[in-house]
Amino acid sequence: MITVLNFGSQFAHLIARRIRNFGVASEILPFDAPVETILGLNPSGIILSGSPASVLESGGPLPAKRIFELGIPILGICYGEQLIAHMLKGKVVKGAHREFGKEMLMIRKRSSLFQGLSKTETVWFSHGDQVAKMPPGFMNTASTKGCAYAAFEDPERKLFGIQFHPEVTHTRHGNQILENFVFKICKARKNWKLESVIKEITKKIKVGVGTSHVVIGISGGVDSLVAATLLYRAIGDQLHAVFVDTGLLRKNEVGEVSTTLKNQGFRNLHVIDASKIFLKRLYGIKDPEQKRKIIGHTFIEIFERTIQTKLKKFSIKYLAQGTIYPDRIESAQTSKSAAKIKSHHNLTLPEKLHVKILEPLKDLYKDEVRGVGREMRLPHVLLWRHPFPGPGLGIRIVGEITKARLEILREADAIFLKILQETGEYQKIWQAFAVLLPIKTVGVMGDARTYEYMIALRAVDSVDGMSADWHKIPNEILEKISSAIVGKVRGVNRVVYDITQKPPATIEYE
Ligand code: XMP
Repeated sequence: MITVLNFGSQFAHLIARRIRNFGVASEILPFDAPVETILGLNPSGIILSGSPASVLESGGPLPAKRIFELGIPILGICYGEQLIAHMLKGKVVKGAHREFGKEMLMIRKRSSLFQGLSKTETVWFSHGDQVAKMPPGFMNTASTKGCAYAAFEDPERKLFGIQFHPEVTHTRHGNQILENFVFKICKARKNWKLESVIKEITKKIKVGVGTSHVVIGISGGVDSLVAATLLYRAIGDQLHAVFVDTGLLRKNEVGEVSTTLKNQGFRNLHVIDASKIFLKRLYGIKDPEQKRKIIGHTFIEIFERTIQTKLKKFSIKYLAQGTIYPDRIESAQTSKSAAKIKSHHNLTLPEKLHVKILEPLKDLYKDEVRGVGREMRLPHVLLWRHPFPGPGLGIRIVGEITKARLEILREADAIFLKILQETGEYQKIWQAFAVLLPIKTVGVMGDARTYEYMIALRAVDSVDGMSADWHKIPNEILEKISSAIVGKVRGVNRVVYDITQKPPATIEYE
């Protein structure tokens, strides 16, 4: 396995994922992980990630110095390279010429890191500082016009540094460089396969849970569906799945997800129709934050009540959650809003329920979670669904939520998504949905005047939801969607397309 020490780079996950894609296990550890923790993973190699920090400023993140004495090959990327220079008696300076973006790399010496590459290669830079003097014992293997020590190494000690980023696609043969490090230098073996990962997780669940009973909340999203299926394979009827129908879910969502779980053999699936309670509590509420609070609290209340009543006789010991690897790594290191958003359901539950948390997907990336789902023959459409927020359609009806408005929105949303699916546009988009704007405008249908609601279509490209660009749906598809919604959904006579980026707008409307 290859350990990636994360110095705060936005690319640390990308490095680990690339390595897993080679079929080699990879884990991210915080930059200051004790040497014992690193050795505990028995790594064949260590990668030092980039960082927005500078080694020239005091207080910059540093790894334990002993890592350079372990005899384990190390590759420092960008800040990682500067760290090697800084900590092993070389010198780093502020670059006179800041290199950002694509550069031409000239390979000067044969290096096992650059095997199979041409003498010149396009690489991608993103840092202001650079190495001015190599540490004793190192040789210079590549440079660019503005950066003499774009790569250096001490092959004897197996220490390598590169100033550019091999993990991003702009570095044309970046994968080759990473593969050279992983296989030629670290001599790692390919043993990271989904089938063995599934076996391993299943075994761990069985041993950990024993004869206890476990509850999992089903949200309609990919992660809880895959987690539930994996758990079911491991512990069968000891698993109880609770699917709270808030009345704020998408069209057919409850039916599709329940059928899928039943097809997997699930017997203990409890679909709780709580739509009336949600609607009642949301009656007359217009304020977005208040709506979110009511939905969140009601959800927790119903989930807890189900455990304390319907599942009482099983004395549930574990609450399983669909937490995945990036959720866990991010919430441990930073408190980004994405992590906070998810915590609103997750963190409040266990304290009151006195249950232990079980996270079967905690070491997997989203694409791996989907891969596990595929291996378990879960339907493709469910595995590739766009993200859906906890408060559901409740935050996609601006202002007051009523049953009639929910029905209109559900229909319009289903038509929008169906056409995106049929035209192949859906998989190009990160998240798409319809929003009901409670504004009435005048229209004409047949010979009659209409005075109805407006539907806004939102479709965005994003990586993690933190920032987003509006997706350029071709005009003819937009036209088809608009005609279909106005033609088929009673109560709507106008459709608009949202062309705002995040920031300044958010993806959701409330
Ligand atoms: P915003 O609207 O903040 O949304 O730009 C960013 C991403 O987060 C999702 N989102 C939520 N997810 N619970 C969730 O599980 C929530 O309360 C919540 N609010 C927003 C949103 O759908 C988008 O993908």
